[in-house]
Amino acid sequence: MKNRAAYMTGLNKIEIRDIDMPKLREKDVLVKLEYVGICGSDVHYLENGKIGDFVVDGDFILGHECAGTIIETGKDVQNLKVGDKVALEPGITCGQCEFCKTGRYNLCPDVEFLATPPYHGSLMNYIAFPENMCFKLPNNITAKEGALVEPLAVGMHAAIQGGVRLGDSVIILGAGTIGLVTLLACKAYGATEITIVDVLPKRLDFAKKLGATTVINAAEADVFSEIDKLTDKKGADIVIETAGAAKTISQTPYLVKNGGTIVLVGLAPQDIIEFNFAKIMAKEAQIKSVFRYRNIYPTAIKAISKGIIDISGIVTHEFDFEDSAKAFDYVINNKQEVVKAVIKID
Ligand SMILES: NC(=O)c1ccc[n+]([C@@H]2O[C@H](COP(=O)([O-])OP(=O)(O)OC[C@H]3O[C@@H](n4cnc5c(N)ncnc54)[C@H](O)[C@@H]3O)[C@@H](O)[C@H]2O)c1
Ligand SMILES: [Zn+2]
Ligand SMILES: [Zn+2]
Repeated sequence: MKNRAAYMTGLNKIEIRDIDMPKLREKDVLVKLEYVGICGSDVHYLENGKIGDFVVDGDFILGHECAGTIIETGKDVQNLKVGDKVALEPGITCGQCEFCKTGRYNLCPDVEFLATPPYHGSLMNYIAFPENMCFKLPNNITAKEGALVEPLAVGMHAAIQGGVRLGDSVIILGAGTIGLVTLLACKAYGATEITIVDVLPKRLDFAKKLGATTVINAAEADVFSEIDKLTDKKGADIVIETAGAAKTISQTPYLVKNGGTIVLVGLAPQDIIEFNFAKIMAKEAQIKSVFRYRNIYPTAIKAISKGIIDISGIVTHEFDFEDSAKAFDYVINNKQEVVKAVIKID
């Protein structure tokens, strides 16, 4: 068996190289990867060499949204077997700290997350991964859908943090991958009015197709007056920010209903942002935030399998592993057109 990985060898440079087959530890499974999604964070590392304090140092393998089939199991693997199709949850946590012990393992300070320096990602043929972070996919879910469980989990965590329930109204700022998976999640949790705001008409068309009840183009219309009209000046039960812009973050206090909840998902380039806390106080609104996700993969997989969430609908582009460099190049140069690109690994 020959293993190869797509390395980021510098800014905007990707190169495929032969690498050793991974060594299996007792509790690992060896997975032949079939699909890896390209995430905004991969693109960001490739273009800028860092995200916040995480700096790429030397040649680096991108990719953390992935699924494939098990071809070998370590000697202490208990629940998975050769031939099982699995989605990999990319964060390996310590299991011992306060956060792990209370089930909030996404907050573990010692997490080793795929494609987050210094840990390599999964854009390769074969990976060894702990059994307990691999989730079996039922027969009616493809490996492509399995790779998309990762971004979906972010959207589901956003909906859960917002407490979205049947009959709720939701405003989602941003219609990128994260905004769209948040839309799918909010719909699944029972939101009945979902308004999506973006500045790109193509993305808003996409949002409409995926079930948004209203879309607003913030480049053409005034968001506040549109939301006033829609909600009779009351605002929405839940406002979820996924655009990652200072402007949209600072809009949220004005858009949320009295007693409602704001969920911050997008990461803005700047740390300090002007924000109207007087509005938050007057409305007794809550502010929640999202750091990745926790305890969501099994539910996400069930929702896809039962047809409650159609995750394959967010994929707009597919590339072969051989063309990884071209794939990233395309995504970087066609940001308006690409919602989610995936790489198929043979
Ligand atoms: N909190 C987490 O755990 C987590 C996880 C994944 C991604 N993220 C963050 O979520 C954000 C979204 O990720 P993505 O992959 O969907 O990115 P993306 O760039 O594809 O989507 C952002 C969207 O926001 C839109 N936008 C920009 N300015 C706007 C404005 N003024 N009004 C309305 N829409 C506007 C853009 O047109 C774009 O469609 C990023 O900041 C990313 O870093 C956070
Ligand atoms: Zn991702
Ligand atoms: Zn921990």
